[in-house]
Amino acid sequence: MPKPRVFVTRHLPGNALDLLAEHTDVAVWRDELPPPAEELEREVARSDGVLMLLTDRIGGDILKKSPRLLVVSNMATGFDNIDLEAAGRHNVLVTRTPGVLSETTAEFTIALIFAAARRVVEGDRAVRAGEWKTWGPEILLGQDLSGATLGIIGMGEIGREVARGTRALGLRIVYFSRSRKPGLERRYRMEFVTLDQLFRESDVISLHAPLTTETRHIIDRKALSLMKSTSILVNTARGPLVDQGALYRALMDERIAGAALDVTDPEPIAPNDPLLSLPNVIVTPHIASASVATRSRMARLAVQNLLEALGGKLPKHAVNRDIARAWRERVRKSGVAIGSEKMERPA
Ligand code: GLV
Repeated sequence: MPKPRVFVTRHLPGNALDLLAEHTDVAVWRDELPPPAEELEREVARSDGVLMLLTDRIGGDILKKSPRLLVVSNMATGFDNIDLEAAGRHNVLVTRTPGVLSETTAEFTIALIFAAARRVVEGDRAVRAGEWKTWGPEILLGQDLSGATLGIIGMGEIGREVARGTRALGLRIVYFSRSRKPGLERRYRMEFVTLDQLFRESDVISLHAPLTTETRHIIDRKALSLMKSTSILVNTARGPLVDQGALYRALMDERIAGAALDVTDPEPIAPNDPLLSLPNVIVTPHIASASVATRSRMARLAVQNLLEALGGKLPKHAVNRDIARAWRERVRKSGVAIGSEKMERPA
């Protein structure tokens, strides 16, 4: 029985690729940079499955040319890099890797909250620049987190982990989310508030919403104008949640105190982007989930999702479950299914 062909858009950490190679015929793009669009298109068109990262984009144009493709396994919790509507039209299943990265991402978010509030990066830069002349009572004064209000936008798994991790610090936590979470409100003594209230009352605002048409530029000029002049914005979700031009102007006008961004729009941010000229802005290269253990877990889960799907089983982390019936039928007809003697790719 021929093995299904799978394209993987980067080398993966841990032993995930070995597992994949046991069951599939794998082609791996081994560059540090993502495959160029034409290369991705060429490879996807020849494959039954693709395992890709958030830097790779799949839209209707590629899907139209890939009649063989059954599943796109995204090694990320977000999936805004995939045109879900087009995937649905072509009955291609999309999967993602939620859960396994929540704590790690929340830890990094909390690190950024501390770093911005206590001006850690500015302090390090000052020392390296030879500006540390003496201990001074007014040098690099930051803000206490104890007693401050943290506003969390988006109360999915990562938002919840940020609430759990910050609870013990004596912060008051308010949140806004698509749906209310009464159980979490009780557990972490959080308060559900309107967005405007969150902007007005928070000392730190942390973004944990997915990128959708509703959340794009959720932080815009108006939102920034409602925020406290001492407040800090932290984004470890998706760059386009923030209108970066408006953020730059708000920081220049001292309408807010600082920002810590692990995600930008675009990525990577241009080295001459005006935001990078501001001392009170921290920018890291989208590394919130980048721990040794978590990246291995993400890779394994992405492989598991792919193998399950190629076995004709609907993975738990399938995003477009509404197409399950039509998709199963496509898998059956394709004959590629792993683990089933009956299913053989027709000659
Ligand atoms: C990272 O940003 C992810 O979506 O997993």
